[in-house]
Amino acid sequence: MKFFADTAEIEDIKKLQESGLLDGITTNPSLIAKSGRDFKEVIKEICGIVPGPVSAEVASTDFDTMIKEADVLRKLADNVVVKLPLTVDGLKACKVLTSEGTKTNVTLCFSANQALLAAKVGATYISPFIGRLDDINLEGMQLIRDIRQIYDNYAFSTEILAASIRTPNHITEAALAGADVATIPPAVIFKLADHPLTKSGLEQFVKDWKGTGQSIL
Ligand code: G3P
Repeated sequence: MKFFADTAEIEDIKKLQESGLLDGITTNPSLIAKSGRDFKEVIKEICGIVPGPVSAEVASTDFDTMIKEADVLRKLADNVVVKLPLTVDGLKACKVLTSEGTKTNVTLCFSANQALLAAKVGATYISPFIGRLDDINLEGMQLIRDIRQIYDNYAFSTEILAASIRTPNHITEAALAGADVATIPPAVIFKLADHPLTKSGLEQFVKDWKGTGQSIL
């Protein structure tokens, strides 16, 4: 499973890139607003740090303007993936951009039928939002399982990018459900390595090793 970080915070991105755990980045207008940075500048900076795919979302909602915005975004760097909303206009734009060889990420997916449409127009990634479905008492993870089954039934190549991930458990469950990618807030990625038994076990090993008086170097 590939790990993308769902953030526009440069310091977190640098730390994750150095860890070797990062395969790409996703951003959205809310994350850009939170960063307080200029959209195009921050995307260019991220693309300079992370060689993997970096999703940058269009801001408009009509087909013509989406295509114009996508053209600006894809010229920012070779690894930009144009993120489009799951609307009829967004799907139409996805079809055109895909036919031109541009990578796309169709976002705000909340149903299996929406995911089916995105695959039919050749989206590179579909982003089902797990946490936001959980928020309204629906089972976000069931959506990932349903999309996996549908995409496998028809050998669609669109990758399932599990989004709106809030907890380490979401990542385990998305991996079990066969998501190709998880886009994860940096704080959650760093939590994945934590385990109290790893911590106490290591403390004991360090103590016992010191007691031997030996040195490997
Ligand atoms: O980038 C899209 C998605 O991951 C947003 O997550 O936590 O705002 O629902 P969240």
